[in-house]
Amino acid sequence: MSENADISKLLWAHRSIRSFTSEDIAPELLNSILTDAVAGSSSSGNLNSVSMVVTRNSERKQKLFELHFGQPMVLEAPVVITFCADWYRTRQWLKLRGARDNFNNFLGYHVAAFDAMILSQSVCLGLEAKGMGICYMGSTLSSMREIGELLNLPETCVPVTTIVAGWPAENPAKRDRLPVSALVHEETYHYPDDRELAEIFESRERKGWERYMSIPELKAEIEKRGITSLAQFYTSDAKYPPETFVEDSLRIIELLNEKGFLPSTSNHPSRSA
Ligand SMILES: Cc1cc2nc3c(=O)[nH]c(=O)nc-3n(C[C@H](O)[C@H](O)[C@H](O)COP(=O)(O)O)c2cc1C
Repeated sequence: MSENADISKLLWAHRSIRSFTSEDIAPELLNSILTDAVAGSSSSGNLNSVSMVVTRNSERKQKLFELHFGQPMVLEAPVVITFCADWYRTRQWLKLRGARDNFNNFLGYHVAAFDAMILSQSVCLGLEAKGMGICYMGSTLSSMREIGELLNLPETCVPVTTIVAGWPAENPAKRDRLPVSALVHEETYHYPDDRELAEIFESRERKGWERYMSIPELKAEIEKRGITSLAQFYTSDAKYPPETFVEDSLRIIELLNEKGFLPSTSNHPSRSA
């Protein structure tokens, strides 16, 4: 089998894992996966503006569990890795070498956050290639400040995503995706009309609805709220209420400001004395 076929197989085998055996991930194994991931992940300017905080300690995991809204896999997984957009180390080095300060601005955050996401996916593939399972934790963004405090993150360093990892104790069904043809645009953006939209979402609407309605607590919640479609469910209070997105957005902007990621007039080169 060609190496390409191996990667294709690995990608098609992916499913998020939310239940783990009690078996640990040996530190040497994890270290080799993290080393491979760093080697194989592109990095803006090759400045490696990322940090990975590995949590194994059960008391700290208990605190992370609470900050991830009680999602049980945080406790079950032997390893939790928090990926951070991190300019602190680089900026300390600039200072040490008498170079000008930079990257304490929104572009710095953006670049580092994308480096961190690229790296996180390489780590996931490395873990999955060895037979382990992973699940991303979107709750990182809602608890950015508190997770940062718990992990003692410095200035211009914030968590952007988290993965839980371990040996799978479940084998969930593969989740489908929207048709690739809807995601790929030839040369310029193709605006789907209503008929095309219905086609694009047809399978998702049907399968997603069936899946949610097969979970008794969710079915009851959906019926109580008078929700009649998957689209309505996604922006309902039971899933992603718009107010929460706005509140989290404002809190993230506030944190980025406090962590030195939003340029003030005082650190604009043309304004400094
Ligand atoms: C950035 C990100 C955040 C996620 N956050 C969560 C989460 O907090 N809890 C969870 O159970 N799954 C989370 N997921 C997993 C998605 O629900 C999952 O990838 C999606 O439903 C597709 O399923 P699959 O990964 O099994 O193919 C997250 C995925 C991503 C990429």
